[in-house]
Amino acid sequence: EHSLLGLKDLSAAEINSILERAAFWDSQTDKVVPVLKDKFVANMFFENSTRTRFSFEMAEKRLNAEVLNFAAAASSVEKGESIYDTVRTLESMGIDAGVIRLKPIGVLAQLAQQISIPLVNAGDGNNEHPTQALLDLYTMKQHFGELKGLKVSIIGDIEHSRVARSNLWALQKFGAEVKLCAPENMRASDLAEYASYVPMEEALCADVVMMLRVQLERHSGGLFKSKQAYREQYGLTEERASRLAPHTIIMHPAPVNRNVEIDDAVVEHAQARIFKQMQNGVPIRMAVMERAMR
Ligand code: CP
Repeated sequence: EHSLLGLKDLSAAEINSILERAAFWDSQTDKVVPVLKDKFVANMFFENSTRTRFSFEMAEKRLNAEVLNFAAAASSVEKGESIYDTVRTLESMGIDAGVIRLKPIGVLAQLAQQISIPLVNAGDGNNEHPTQALLDLYTMKQHFGELKGLKVSIIGDIEHSRVARSNLWALQKFGAEVKLCAPENMRASDLAEYASYVPMEEALCADVVMMLRVQLERHSGGLFKSKQAYREQYGLTEERASRLAPHTIIMHPAPVNRNVEIDDAVVEHAQARIFKQMQNGVPIRMAVMERAMR
């Protein structure tokens, strides 16, 4: 049983072994290897995705697994079938592991108790997104060599961010110093005891400036004041990016709201690692799927 539900309960040694295995896959030149030959994996996305869904599929296919893709919108979920019944259905057909993305909070932990195949969290409400944080850690290690002592600022819509939570739990295990920065209405009260909120100017003085997407779809009560006001106060504008220390790297899990939390011209800035993060998602997910099924 090698489910991956989150990083909060994973040890630094376990995280390290995934990062090391990802580095191994990253160094391989063969595009497909028969490591998961004859294994069946279902990618079950109950919430939309581009990067996570396709990089899991790339990773699984590179390991020669048989891949089934499930999209809630084209399934019997539309007729009212529950998440549990859907996952149980695929399990009963003989899949060896399931990759799952869910919107409702608390369902993944419950499913993991009820399902006997390994489950891999591909995004769980605002709780955790472990493979995103693993690829983020991998990207930081690739640039800085080690995580210990690294100053990481996570800026933006912290309240709704599973990426912020998984990164916070994992980075602190390695002795990185995490600071948060967000407008009042995007702060997460559950994280206040683990990391401090700092003003934008202080947040920019870091080794890693991690911008988060403003989750427009989750701000039913109105965003900030306006997208323009958000950009002016919390956006990584070209002007702010020009004042970053030369060694600082810019990260963002994407998708990005261009000219809201990050300026158009900063997305592919020389110090940005956003597309590198996406590239690193494949070897990370190869390591995670190999761990789940071998
Ligand atoms: N970073 C991330 O999870 O992107 P997707 O929602 O496109 O998978």
